[in-house]
Amino acid sequence: MRGRLEDFLEMRYVCLMTSRIATKSAAETQKIARILAGELKPHAHGAVVVALEGDLGAGKTTFTQGFARALGIKENVLSPTFVLMKIYDLKQEARSKKQGFKYLVHIDCYRIHNPKDILHLGMKDILKDRDAIVLIEWADRIKKILPRDTIRIRFAHGAKQHERRMRIEAVA
Ligand SMILES: Nc1ncnc2c1ncn2[C@@H]1O[C@H](COP(=O)(O)OP(=O)(O)O)[C@@H](O)[C@H]1O
Ligand SMILES: [Mg+2]
Repeated sequence: MRGRLEDFLEMRYVCLMTSRIATKSAAETQKIARILAGELKPHAHGAVVVALEGDLGAGKTTFTQGFARALGIKENVLSPTFVLMKIYDLKQEARSKKQGFKYLVHIDCYRIHNPKDILHLGMKDILKDRDAIVLIEWADRIKKILPRDTIRIRFAHGAKQHERRMRIEAVA
C-alpha cells in the first residue's frame, strides 16, 4: 500500500482489506468480477479505479469482461492493447441498477512505460470524473498517477492449467 504517514495519522485509511481467491475457470473469474461490480459505488471525489496487475494470460481481460457484462455492456470486450483506452457508455437502466456509474473506462497500459504517456489521453480528467468506473490492465506501470484509494487486484497463474489466483486489496 502506498501512503504517507500523515494520512495514517489523520485516519484517512481506516482499514486495508485483503482477500485472496483462487478460481478454476474463466467463468469463475468472471463471477468474482460480477460480484465486485455489484458492490462498487461512485465516490464523491472522483472515479472509482480498479488496478489489474499480473502476467500475460493471468486473467485481467477475462475479469474485465465479467465486470462489463455485470454493468449491462453487451459488446465484446477485448484488451485495448493498441488503442490503450476504450470507453463504454452504460445504459440508463444499468445506471440505476448499478449505483449510478455512467461510463466504464477500460485501459491497457501494456505499451506504456512512462505514466506521462497516458496523461495525454485525458487521464487526469477521467480520474476526476465521479461518473466513471475505470479498470486498468498493467496498472503497475502507471502506479504513480493512480488515486490512493485504488482497488488493486493482482492476478497470478495457479499450479493447474485453469487455476488463477487473485489478491484483492482495498481501503475502506
Ligand atoms: N481461472 C481462470 N481465470 C481467468 N482466465 C482463465 C482461467 N482459466 C483459464 N483462463 C483463460 O486464460 C486466458 C486469460 O487471458 P486474459 O484474460 O486475456 O489475460 P490477461 O488480460 O491477463 O493477459 C483466457 O484465455 C481464459 O479463458
Ligand atoms: Mg489483457
